[in-house]
Amino acid sequence: MSTPRAKPKYYLTTPLYYTNGMPHIGHTYSTIVTDVIRRYKRMRGFDVFMTTGADEHGVNVERSAQKAGKSPLDFSTEIAAQWKQLWDDLGIAGDEFIRTTDEKHHRTVQWLFKRCRDNGFIDKGSYTGQYCVHDNAYVVEAGPGDPCPDCGRPTETVTEENYFFKLSEFQQKLLDFYAANPDFIQPESRRNEVLSFVNGGLKNLSITRTTIKWGIPVPGEFPHVFYVWFDALIGYLTAAGGPDYDQRGLWPADLHIVGKEIIRFHAVYWPAFLMAADLPLQKQIWAHGWLLFDSQKMSKSRGNVVRPRPIVNALGIEPLRYYMLREIVFGQDGSFSYDAMVTRYNSDLANGLGNLASRTLTMIERYFGGEIPEPAATQGRDMYVPAAADFAADALTNITKLYDRFSFSQALEAIWEQVAAIDKFITVEKPWALADQPENRDRLAMVLYSAAESLRIIAALAHPVLPEATRKIWKQLGLTEPLGQVQLDQVAWGQLKPGTRIGKPEGIFPRVDKSETIARIEAMEQEPTKAQDAAPAAAATAPAATPAAAAPVVTKIGIEDFAKVEMRVGLVKSAERVAGADKLLQLQVDIGDEVRQIVAGLALAYKPEDLVGRKVVVVTNLLPRKLRGVESNGMIVAASLPDGAPVLAGFIEDVPVGARLK
Ligand code: MSP
Repeated sequence: MSTPRAKPKYYLTTPLYYTNGMPHIGHTYSTIVTDVIRRYKRMRGFDVFMTTGADEHGVNVERSAQKAGKSPLDFSTEIAAQWKQLWDDLGIAGDEFIRTTDEKHHRTVQWLFKRCRDNGFIDKGSYTGQYCVHDNAYVVEAGPGDPCPDCGRPTETVTEENYFFKLSEFQQKLLDFYAANPDFIQPESRRNEVLSFVNGGLKNLSITRTTIKWGIPVPGEFPHVFYVWFDALIGYLTAAGGPDYDQRGLWPADLHIVGKEIIRFHAVYWPAFLMAADLPLQKQIWAHGWLLFDSQKMSKSRGNVVRPRPIVNALGIEPLRYYMLREIVFGQDGSFSYDAMVTRYNSDLANGLGNLASRTLTMIERYFGGEIPEPAATQGRDMYVPAAADFAADALTNITKLYDRFSFSQALEAIWEQVAAIDKFITVEKPWALADQPENRDRLAMVLYSAAESLRIIAALAHPVLPEATRKIWKQLGLTEPLGQVQLDQVAWGQLKPGTRIGKPEGIFPRVDKSETIARIEAMEQEPTKAQDAAPAAAATAPAATPAAAAPVVTKIGIEDFAKVEMRVGLVKSAERVAGADKLLQLQVDIGDEVRQIVAGLALAYKPEDLVGRKVVVVTNLLPRKLRGVESNGMIVAASLPDGAPVLAGFIEDVPVGARLK
């Protein structure tokens, strides 16, 4: 029996990523898109659950582990932890991170296999064919010596005694299902591709292997292990409760987000397995295109990957989210370029939304003492209110329609048309001139009210893509309801209450120098992956404020920028290791008027007991951040040696705790 839910559930998934390598921005794109849909669906009244995870079996992982001199499980455990850490750090972790090595997953796979077998859809047989090790798939159309048509690598001739899934029996059932559910496979181009594949006839599918050891054992059938794809797809169901799926009320999944190269597995094999096991089928699959770099699919084997951390360290995660969703038409391939990303950042975020928010709020602060003005119905009203209020009505409907169709790029384009329109409206109305004319006080109020109210609606609409920036704008507008819980069908014009105290206007997206930013990202890209993916050497920092430790380009800043950093003398009261992180220490540091918890990357150079009683330099006004799940409220200043070892900054003379550094 499923648990009754107050809201309709929406269960969505990313692919489960292979643990034979580290994520690049292609994988990051899939997870970001899924996170955007999750946030959007929440604002449309759904109780959303998102699964991501690691696909850990198969020859590729086994071989990578061998190269690293580790057991497949140890190797895969380390890599899976790094994937999970990345999603956590980027704020895009799912509600469940499923590992295909989890015991509960083994049970689900074995259970589903038994159901298919009991229902008569599994047979034993022997098979000789061309196998692509890289793609973990037999290439039916290849002969001995032929390359794999997907990845171009040589195929290997393999003969095995296997269990076969009777896929051929599902051809008509699948075709009937696709016909009855025209939205099952999206976009249309992928649906056509799948239809022609299935129309061309389906061969039975070998779902166990005896040639490899690294897989889930087929019960009572040693040395058979399950084929990695049979195993991995079932991960979506494991995350929803496995054999007890009906108790969670999550299954069937509402949406699988995948890259286009794995559409066949999701749109043909997976529904066939589910039909054979007599289980409900997922409701929809959306296949997105590829991120291309130098006109080719970004992939580890091509060596043309771009990693997410350098971008996030230099610019922040939100500019990357915005760029990907705005620039790539969802469902199509898109080229990635640093130049285009930074250009978008400056034009749409710094000069666009950031500037609109800061000029609107600054003027409300200046001309109305920081309170949302009362929009009296007076002269000039007709000139501008209809445009802005119409926006609320029309744009809300249009933009939610675009989001509903996952037309993210168009939705953002439409939102940014409004950003430009309100910006222009302010420029035309010249509030700074109206402010000098006491007779135009009402008009000034109406102009600034309209700008602020538009900003509120824009923030709500852009929230799924820019969760943090819009939250800041929301707070600066004096709004207290958590933005992520706001329902888009309730965001009507006129809800901003006059008299509301706004927060302190602060910059959201500072303009950046394009070539210098790209140089910084590229310098970080040169650093070895290990250093990139480890926690920062000296504690926690907000991404956008982190100058790359090893970047050769150093930005010159004015004294006023330096003055924004508050540094104080702190006294370490206690120190202990952070479980599961070999570099991190969790410290309690007295900074004069309070004791702060700080997580610092000092453990390789300092023992916890050596730090207690030591005076250190603390950056005290950094945004809080979680490292390995532990909140950090500040940063300990340390020099970083070429091998990455930290050396603490300290004092020769005695200094009082809490003293400020200038
Ligand atoms: N393990 C399988 C999926 C099993 S799902 C039950 C797999 N893993 S993978 O690590 O290779 O990840 C593939 C997914 O990563 C793609 O489907 C896509 O979502 C994403 N991408 C990998 N490279 C990509 C690009 N260059 N561009 C966009 N997305 C890409 O396949």
